[in-house]
Amino acid sequence: MTDERTIAMERLREQGLGCTRCDLHLSGTHVVWGEGDLHAQVMLIGQGPGEQEAKAGRPFVGPSGEVLNEWLATTGIDRSKLWISNTIKHWATSLNERGRRVNRTPKTSEVQACRIWIEGELTIVAPKILVCIGAPSAQAIIDKKFKITESRGQWFKGPNDEDVIATFHPSYLIRLRAADVAAYDAAWAQVLDDFRAVAERAGELNIDLN
Ligand code: URA
Repeated sequence: MTDERTIAMERLREQGLGCTRCDLHLSGTHVVWGEGDLHAQVMLIGQGPGEQEAKAGRPFVGPSGEVLNEWLATTGIDRSKLWISNTIKHWATSLNERGRRVNRTPKTSEVQACRIWIEGELTIVAPKILVCIGAPSAQAIIDKKFKITESRGQWFKGPNDEDVIATFHPSYLIRLRAADVAAYDAAWAQVLDDFRAVAERAGELNIDLN
């Protein structure tokens, strides 16, 4: 039987697929909608799709997704028990020196234009815990001046009184691995602490994540 959330999310998704609220819809790539358990009590909110996600039309399936999967597996969190979405739904790109499209940070105007979709997802899924992956997500959900390096791993309140925590983005770790192995190891351990904090808070709220 199709439940009310499925119907509501399908309606919202259909509207989102036709979104023209910012210029990113001109990119000609897929809208990457959230996915997972519509009854999830924990929702992950990333920055926005990368190249692989834009091709597949699914969140966190490329290199960042592999890193995220490792964090979840290491901290005993089952990905299928989450709702996973992004702050923006289209791939935000700039051209590199060889004329190739590469990821870029979303503009504030793009995040604002996309905000209605994440708000809609929050209303339908109604999670108790939000995990912001990376600064644009934390700035959209917690505070526009949020600094991951200063405030990751701390609990805040979300727009609907959810418990919210922010952590580093996998792409930051991927860049750090190539640049500074000691800093990478330290950041990796911090991310695992953050996901363990999520698992612990979920336990306190009787949310099954395993
Ligand atoms: N990075 C994100 O923030 N989200 C994705 O879905 C993939 C990469």
